[in-house]
Amino acid sequence: MTDPFREQVMTLPDQFGHCPSPRGSLPRDGRLIIVGLGGSGLAGEFFGLHLEGSRETLVVRDLALPEIRDHDALLAISYSGNTRETLSVWHEAGDRGLARAAVASGGRLLEEAREHDLPHVEIPGGMAPRSGLGYLLRGCWSLVPGSPEPGWDEVGAHLRKMVTHWVEPDDSSSPIDEVVSSLRGSLPVFLTWGSGSRLAGRRWVADLAENAKVPSVVWEFPESAHNAIMTLSREAPRDQPIAGVILGEPRDKPAREYFRTVVSLLEEHGARTSLVEEPHEDSWIHALGLAHLGDWASVLLAETIGVEASSLSLMDDLKEQLARKEEGNE
Ligand code: F6R
Repeated sequence: MTDPFREQVMTLPDQFGHCPSPRGSLPRDGRLIIVGLGGSGLAGEFFGLHLEGSRETLVVRDLALPEIRDHDALLAISYSGNTRETLSVWHEAGDRGLARAAVASGGRLLEEAREHDLPHVEIPGGMAPRSGLGYLLRGCWSLVPGSPEPGWDEVGAHLRKMVTHWVEPDDSSSPIDEVVSSLRGSLPVFLTWGSGSRLAGRRWVADLAENAKVPSVVWEFPESAHNAIMTLSREAPRDQPIAGVILGEPRDKPAREYFRTVVSLLEEHGARTSLVEEPHEDSWIHALGLAHLGDWASVLLAETIGVEASSLSLMDDLKEQLARKEEGNE
């Protein structure tokens, strides 16, 4: 029997084929402020990446709005619909007269959007928020007119291909197993270049934290070439092994050459790195593919080290305690 959490991870490619039924939409122009935390925030970042070049966006992961401008609109994303930070920004946006729309599977956010007749979309529920990336992205897109339509079928097809190549190849050993075993007992470091690979790196970090409960970091090149790489130099202490994972290769030639030089020098200095890559001509789809492999790697790592991937005890305790305090203050 497949583990129920693993089953959720397996649904991601099909989620992109789900057609949402939005009620209303946001204005076509103006800056889009996106609020969301955790898995919903990452969906907001991926949506922002998709809008790059067609609409200015700002992703907020906070309790309050940043400085606002005329014609700003708010897109609030919360899978559960009950995240306090998201609700707090949502309420502030209402008080300050911003156009606003909500993406949620239920909770207060959806309730309030319905009650006040505000644009909203209800996405399928019953999953861990971090597993609902496809539903969240389709929900976001359905509320923002003028945003270019991604090839949803192509996204699903690429993710399926990624899983076939990396997780379930025909022969007995999967390439992902090698990556997972390199992560075990090491500090995983994701070597990224450009916004798509950086975002995929953030997804791996969140996945490893939430599913395998292990810390990891993203290195953003070229900046990391000027500081962080020294922790992999031949003179660095080796008491905490570092596992470098390269998330995709840069597309343009000078960046690719620069990056390859970094990687070969790291090897000369004795650093372990592995490359995760599944090319796609569309850079957004490429990034989503790299991110999805993080879902798999983290679940497989959790299984290997005997950690419950679905459990979020500390996070749940915190949410509960904050809610109790809020009730006490009302
Ligand atoms: C849990 C998860 C978390 C949540 C976050 C915000 O699966 O991914 O990172 O996304 O706690 O909750 P929502 O997404 O319900 O607003």
